[in-house]
Amino acid sequence: MTTIDTLIDAETIAKRVEEMGKQISQDYAGQEVVIVPVLKGSFMFAADLVRHISIPCRMDFLGLRSYEGETSTGVVQITSDLTRAIEGEHVIVVEDIVDTGLTMEYLFENLATRKPKSVKLASLLHKPARTTVDIEIDYLGFTIEDVFVIGYGLDYDQLYRNLPYLGVVRSED
Ligand code: IMP
Repeated sequence: MTTIDTLIDAETIAKRVEEMGKQISQDYAGQEVVIVPVLKGSFMFAADLVRHISIPCRMDFLGLRSYEGETSTGVVQITSDLTRAIEGEHVIVVEDIVDTGLTMEYLFENLATRKPKSVKLASLLHKPARTTVDIEIDYLGFTIEDVFVIGYGLDYDQLYRNLPYLGVVRSED
């Protein structure tokens, strides 16, 4: 049998995401930004975050794949690229979780070649115990222990993304 333990409930997530959106709006006051959610995992976080961003923002999406099941393959693949150039733009990448950091290291190197004015990172979660590359997270939702989380956009083999909270799968016989 599979049981899901709640790690962070929907209300706590909503409160934190609102704070993050307000902080971003303050930091970029008077400017325009391009919000780049990294699919698929950040779709729910990004949808909630932008509702609290009050400055003008455009949205473009990036599809990245770095994981199969619970193991990082270490190989990052762009499955779907941005639709517009970001040269001279303020970009905020929206990610679900920074685990080893390999995915964001790859993405930030890739985006730098496109000459944006600035690139910052908003990540819902950080799992520092597993981080092998130092990634600066400008806007962080929560720091978590070394557990595999699902829900609120995050999946285990493509399942559980629809859960409105963050949970941990507990397998029992
Ligand atoms: P990193 O390259 O190891 O930092 O991995 C980042 C990506 O791995 C994230 O964008 C997620 O898609 C996935 N990932 C890492 N940890 C978890 C987890 O606990 N649950 C679900 N997906 C995860």
